[in-house]
Amino acid sequence: MTRPSIFVANWKMYKTLDQTKAFFEELLPLLQIDDPSTKLLVAVPFTLLALAVELTQGSPILIGAQNMNDATEGAFTGEIAASMLQEVGCRFVLLGHSERRRLFGETDEFIRRKLLRAHASRLQPILCVGETLEERDGGQTEERLSTQINDCLEGVPKELFDSLSIAYEPIWAIGTGHCATPQIAQETHLFCRDYLRQHWGNQVADKVPLLYGGSVNPAIAPELMAQADIDGLLVGGASLKATSFAKIVNWRSAV
Ligand code: PGA
Repeated sequence: MTRPSIFVANWKMYKTLDQTKAFFEELLPLLQIDDPSTKLLVAVPFTLLALAVELTQGSPILIGAQNMNDATEGAFTGEIAASMLQEVGCRFVLLGHSERRRLFGETDEFIRRKLLRAHASRLQPILCVGETLEERDGGQTEERLSTQINDCLEGVPKELFDSLSIAYEPIWAIGTGHCATPQIAQETHLFCRDYLRQHWGNQVADKVPLLYGGSVNPAIAPELMAQADIDGLLVGGASLKATSFAKIVNWRSAV
């Protein structure tokens, strides 16, 4: 089964309306996507969603959010519902990013409820998982990843896997400038794919795109993308500049 190649920009808490306009004006002419199975996604702050959707209309880019709440609506000050994202034109949502887990106390159980809500609202979920440096050094990477994958996905309907992607983002690589080596990334992706195979079967394991994230830059993107089980990249810092994000997306022209 051929899986799509997926490139996701995660802008985190950066950019104004004017900067967003300038970014897409610069990015769109730089893209060389001749392969229809390549998907381009940009996760922007809530305040930029409507503008980003408008600016990318008719382009291959889909706009998404970096978080959402699991409830349909209610007295949840400061939160955003899936239906609100959908209404504004969002097509996907990042869930369980390590910054959400670490800085805002999100648990696997909470993330699981968000996954179910995203699925019910026809938003494509990108589930983020990853280990700390201590966990890797202590030989606990596989245990950590299997716990996250299991606790976030246990009992979810099979159809959820049709739109799900999983991003492996080692916490030691995020924002540090230390990208995982392509070998380590491939090894860990293979572990995740085997875990999916054991628990949900071949169809799910062969279908779910696995993305790598953590200090991805244009220089390392081709080698990461050449790995058998790396289907895409989740890019933070290097996605803030249109030129560097375009280089990552256009990785084939660099090989
Ligand atoms: P980074 O962020 O590319 O800046 O390391 C990746 C992420 O947090 O998704």
